Amino acid sequence: MHPATKPTFLFALVAGTCFVHTQTNLVRAASPEMRRVASRSTPAHQAAKKFLRGTNLGNYLEAPPGQDWGARYSEQDFVHIKAEGFDHVRLPIAWHHYTGSAPDFKLSDDIFAKADFLVTNALKHGLNVIVNIQHFDEFTSNPLAFTNKFYALWRQIAGHYAKFSDNVALELLNEPKDAATTVVLNPIYAEAIREIRKTNPRRVIFVGPGRWNQVSELPNLRLPDNDENLIVTVHCYDPFNFTHQGATWTSSDVKSLKGIVFPGPPTTPFVPPDGVKLGRGTLDWLQRYNTLPTEQNPCGPLAFRRPLQQAKEWSDRYGRPVHVGEFGCYTGADPASRARFYAEFHKALDEFGLGWAMWDWKAGFRFWDDKTGEPAPGMREALFPNK
Ligand code: BGC
Repeated sequence: MHPATKPTFLFALVAGTCFVHTQTNLVRAASPEMRRVASRSTPAHQAAKKFLRGTNLGNYLEAPPGQDWGARYSEQDFVHIKAEGFDHVRLPIAWHHYTGSAPDFKLSDDIFAKADFLVTNALKHGLNVIVNIQHFDEFTSNPLAFTNKFYALWRQIAGHYAKFSDNVALELLNEPKDAATTVVLNPIYAEAIREIRKTNPRRVIFVGPGRWNQVSELPNLRLPDNDENLIVTVHCYDPFNFTHQGATWTSSDVKSLKGIVFPGPPTTPFVPPDGVKLGRGTLDWLQRYNTLPTEQNPCGPLAFRRPLQQAKEWSDRYGRPVHVGEFGCYTGADPASRARFYAEFHKALDEFGLGWAMWDWKAGFRFWDDKTGEPAPGMREALFPNK
């Protein structure tokens, strides 16, 4: 969420699916298919019922030490989260900044204390919890050089939470990117899972594919055949030009967009502001946004319905529950469009029967507005329409 952190975050998302599909088919042909789990009542399917409607506590422990990304959480937040109807929180934590040196990479008491404040308050207020590793960029840039650190983190985090209730889940790695492709990660994930199972034989573990946890990477994922307590997590920020307009940590094109409405087409065609130079891909997207009817518009529900449907189909085929761990729209969009977007996205999640955690509780993509002590406009109606 910080301008300095994730300059590459969006490229795959914006670059479009054709490239990814080509890549996917090549790899798919090369390696044997994953085992299909026949049962629909595995431990993972049971656990998935606890992780249906969640929110991310972003911009706090995901920030590197010494940086303030503007969010702090108190016990009151958990009271509101529960009262709004969420059943879980996802905690993005940058554990890798808080270790001693190799080979132990000992985690500091301070980071455990901060994480535990969130975990114990969530549990106290009846919310289930996902604890992950977020923004581990040194690992995703050079996985082989940092594999030992990755295992050491999980050995310690798993050991620490071993005594906690089953309502706490562990998620191996947020949004792998760069050299940490799905294929590179498959054996590393398998080893980390084996390590976690030594202290947590029954805890559910979330595992996500590479390329920012994109759905199109699912065909490359190979989960260990013998572990039926794994939930697969994917992220979807489509349509990216809408959801990330004005977000300082994205590419210059997306960052300079303002006033993109959802759904397209707009009543008056969007014209890029004077002096802003946009790339071919963005100009082409804008042209289709300005002209195509909503059903075909790149800034309409089609943008996310397709990947969500693919996630559902993959889940059905392999007998592995899928959770959408991040989706959302930055407050750079106008509030009415944001509310329409979350409502349509939620409708699709519901239709495909996918559990989800929206990004985020009260930072830049907020559900909750601390200034008013209320949900941001339209958010409650969008995500909890039957309330
Ligand atoms: C990042 C956040 C960011 C969000 C939306 C998450 O994966 O951790 O920092 O705000 O994506 O871009």
